[in-house]
Amino acid sequence: MVSVVITGRGGAGKTTMTANLGTYFSRVGYRSLVIDGDLYLPKLAFHFGIYNPQYNLHTLLKNQDMRVVEAVYHDPKTSVDILPGSSKLYDVIDLDQRRLGDIVREIGARYNITIIDSPVGIPFDTISTFRLAQYQLIIIEIERCPIHSVHRMIENEVIKLKSLGDAYGLKVGVILNKVRESSESVNDIVDFLEYSVEVPVVGVVPFDHRVPEATNYGRPVLDYAPRTGASKAIAEAGGILDEWVFGKKEKKGPLARLYEALLALLHRTNVPSLKKL
Ligand SMILES: Nc1ncnc2c1ncn2[C@@H]1O[C@H](COP(=O)(O)OP(=O)(O)O)[C@@H](O)[C@H]1O
Ligand SMILES: [Mg+2]
Repeated sequence: MVSVVITGRGGAGKTTMTANLGTYFSRVGYRSLVIDGDLYLPKLAFHFGIYNPQYNLHTLLKNQDMRVVEAVYHDPKTSVDILPGSSKLYDVIDLDQRRLGDIVREIGARYNITIIDSPVGIPFDTISTFRLAQYQLIIIEIERCPIHSVHRMIENEVIKLKSLGDAYGLKVGVILNKVRESSESVNDIVDFLEYSVEVPVVGVVPFDHRVPEATNYGRPVLDYAPRTGASKAIAEAGGILDEWVFGKKEKKGPLARLYEALLALLHRTNVPSLKKL
């Protein structure tokens, strides 16, 4: 199984990206699970119209005898499975976080890909998920601020999260979210991240009012408005991630395949005039 932890500052779009990347992977044929690792303010299930799940990650954390599958919900429209958190304050206190790693390991084994949402900032409460994961995606929201303060913010946050990922042997990538800047300054930020911080940028997702609208309807935007800018950009990021994680090869068209077959044939035949083709 492949596990990806999603990190970043509050409001950057971690939960939105978890729900939508889960949807992307399910749409392209993987068995995909999303887990709400934001233990104190769980919101992931809202993206799938689940508001008060009776069984959830918190009931699992509190109850050793419960079977993990009992707390997993299936979204029939996207085929994504969801392990939600509890919205009840009572469930959130006195958690045994050591069990979290075991729960994620047990349930994750049933899926091709597990995407784990995290609390804000450095996810101390869910660090056990870093031990299981192979990838960390840091979501960055670029505010409308001068370029040098963006660099400072990146140095402050991304470098810390990246070194945490490095310490656990995770491959680290970045998604820029809610991008409104002119493409010029975005290119500067991408260059800074890739060449100075040395972390690949997997996606650049525009600010798009249909994203909060979709969440209000309890749907991932990829399902609610597949053709809107944010959905296209998230799907593109999903494609890059797919290649990164599963080593998916670029699909070749029939003409390219015919050309390759012809070249292979010429290589085998010994007709000099044909070889010149
Ligand atoms: N690309 C986007 N365009 C517009 N709004 C967005 C975008 N991504 C996220 N949002 C909104 O930003 C807010 C915070 O997103 P959320 O995913 O909850 O962040 P986090 O989990 O990092 O705290 C939500 O209201 C969400 O709808
Ligand atoms: Mg969140």
